[in-house]
Amino acid sequence: MVREICASIPPVGLGTFRLKHDAVKPVLRDAIRLGYRHIDTAAIYRNEAEIGEVLQEFYASDEYNIAREDLWITSKLSPYDMATPRNALLKSLAALQTPYLDLYLIHWPAMARKPASSPENKRLRLEAWGVLNEARKQGLVRHIGVSNFTVEHLRELSETEWGIKDAFVQMEIHPWYWRDAAEIQTDFEGHNLSMVGYALLAEGKLMADDCPELIEGIAQRTSLTKVQVVLSWARKRGWAILVKSENETHLRQNLDIPEVMDTLTADDISAIDEISLGGEEKRCWDPRLVK
Ligand SMILES: NC(=O)c1ccc[n+]([C@@H]2O[C@H](COP(=O)([O-])OP(=O)(O)OC[C@H]3O[C@@H](n4cnc5c(N)ncnc54)[C@H](OP(=O)(O)O)[C@@H]3O)[C@@H](O)[C@H]2O)c1
Repeated sequence: MVREICASIPPVGLGTFRLKHDAVKPVLRDAIRLGYRHIDTAAIYRNEAEIGEVLQEFYASDEYNIAREDLWITSKLSPYDMATPRNALLKSLAALQTPYLDLYLIHWPAMARKPASSPENKRLRLEAWGVLNEARKQGLVRHIGVSNFTVEHLRELSETEWGIKDAFVQMEIHPWYWRDAAEIQTDFEGHNLSMVGYALLAEGKLMADDCPELIEGIAQRTSLTKVQVVLSWARKRGWAILVKSENETHLRQNLDIPEVMDTLTADDISAIDEISLGGEEKRCWDPRLVK
């Protein structure tokens, strides 16, 4: 089942993980000049203040004519701040020098330094969800959501007084691991969830020697790169995508995915879907152990 993401989110976002402090600045400047309007950060990436500084440069510049409302800014509640979500949100707003976020996510379903099996995790994430809902009502955030939540974690939220209608879900998605994302969409059909994928290149597996010939073949036939093939597959499936690049050519190629994605046929999409039938391979942190 394919359901399109919330119409107002730019479908290709700039990832900023591992671009700590000043390292994010040249990348963000290049990205905004090239046309990126969706920036994904998080308190634990340690770059919100530097992103805020670069954005101020653009707001002040006559050359680009960029205002706050032209951008989509996502940030995330750190697992270290699960017990103080409102304070954490206010800190992110101050660091990013913005009165509101377009999207604020609970980054991880557990508190840092607590065992995954601790019942405290559930209490904290439900309380945090209440705080995020209140913040949305107060206009501090336009949209709210969760990241790295399983179907079970989402079900708990859906049973709270706030529910999960119109929420965003950010999670690992690539040809070797995408069925959990599809299951969430199927199980919560009717809740109008928007999915955003990260680690689309499967933490390097797409570039490895054992990358399936199928992807190479589609790349050769369509004259796209392997990365463009996989990003197009994800967009054709209706997911927004986050990609990080420090290379200008790559930044351009990634931003242009909406223009090239229709090069893939329905058969290409189904064939890429089947790659994970050989066994799902999750590459990033795994929330399935979190109670
Ligand atoms: N919610 C979460 O828990 C979570 C977890 C992980 C990531 N994220 C978000 O998702 C974003 C993306 O994930 P990521 O940063 O881990 O990695 P990624 O975007 O999947 O991969 C980044 C790598 O891909 C390369 N690359 C990018 N575009 C390319 C292209 N067109 N052709 C060839 N190589 C390309 C980059 O190298 P070059 O610099 O050479 O292009 C870089 O080495 C993060 O930055 C973050 O914002 C969220």
